[in-house]
Amino acid sequence: MKRILVTGAAGQIGSELVPELRKIYGSDNVVAASNVTPLPDDIRESGPSTTVNVTDYGQIDGLIKKYDMDTLYHLGSILSVSAEQNRRLAYQVNITGLYNILEAAKDNNLQRIIVPSSIAAFGPDTPLDNTPNETIQRPNTIYGISKVFGELMGDYYFHKFGLDVRGVRLPGIISWKTEPTAGTTDYAMSIFYSVIREQHYNCYLKPDTRLPMMYMPDAIEASIQLMEADPNRLIHRNAFNVTAMHLDPQTLADEIKKHIPNFTIEYKIDQDRESIAQSWPRTIDDSVAKKEWDWSADYDLDRTINEYLQS
Ligand code: SER
Repeated sequence: MKRILVTGAAGQIGSELVPELRKIYGSDNVVAASNVTPLPDDIRESGPSTTVNVTDYGQIDGLIKKYDMDTLYHLGSILSVSAEQNRRLAYQVNITGLYNILEAAKDNNLQRIIVPSSIAAFGPDTPLDNTPNETIQRPNTIYGISKVFGELMGDYYFHKFGLDVRGVRLPGIISWKTEPTAGTTDYAMSIFYSVIREQHYNCYLKPDTRLPMMYMPDAIEASIQLMEADPNRLIHRNAFNVTAMHLDPQTLADEIKKHIPNFTIEYKIDQDRESIAQSWPRTIDDSVAKKEWDWSADYDLDRTINEYLQS
C-alpha cells in the first residue's frame, strides 16, 4: 500500500502528477503539499492537501507522521531563472530543503523517495550533444548546482542508509495546466499560451537554441515508472537522462504554423536565459533509463502539438 506525500504540488509537474497518482493509488493516499503557491482547485477538492515549508524539518517530519507516509515525491524547488535572482532563497529551498527531506525520510524509514534532477545538472564543459548519463557535470547556475547536490545526496543516502532515493533528469517540459513561472525552458509553454491568446510570440531564446524536451504525460509516466521500477534491475538511482525530442524555438514555431497559419514569432533575446540554455545539453542519450527500467517516450513533436492544440 502506498501513501504518498508530494511537495511542490502546485507547480508545473506537481499539479499534473498528483491527479495521476490519485487515480492509481487512491485519492486519500496522496497528500498534496505546497508552500506559498495555492494548490489548484481540482487538487484541493479531490484529496488531502496541506501546506509545507521544506526549510523547516519539523513540518516535513510532522506531515510524514500525521499521514503515515511511506513514499515521497519531492518536487518543491526554485527554478533556474528565479534561483539566479534570489540565491539565498534558492539555497534555502533547493539545498537545505532537500537535506531536510532526506533526513526526515531516513528518520521515518520511508520506502521510496523520488527527487527529480534536470538537464540543468550539466554545464558548459559537458559534451552538449548526445550527452551521456555519466559525464562531466560542472553547472554554472545555482539551480544546476543544487541539482547535482540532489543527485549526489540521493546516492549518498542510498549507499549509507539504504534509503531508496531515485530520480530522472528531466528535460524542458511542455504543458498547459500552470502558467509558466521562471524556468529557462518555459518558452515551450509560453508559446502555446501566446498561440491561444494573440497568435504571436516574442521568444527570449535564439531561434536555433536546441534543448531536450518532453510533453507532460511522458514526464509523469517517467516519474511513476521509475518509482515502480524493480530495485534489482537498477544500477543507477540518481539520476537517469530521459528525453522525448530535441527542440529549438524555430522548429516548434514552424510546426505550430502548420496548424495555425497566422501564428508569428519574433525573437527578443534575454541574454541571461540564453546563456543558461547554452550551458545545457542540446541532445541527450537516455539509453541507461531504457536499459534499466524500460523507459520510452510516447510523444514526439507531432503528437505533442496535435494533443496540445486539442486540449
Ligand atoms: N525546466 C527547468 C528550468 O527551465 C529546468 O529543469 O528551470
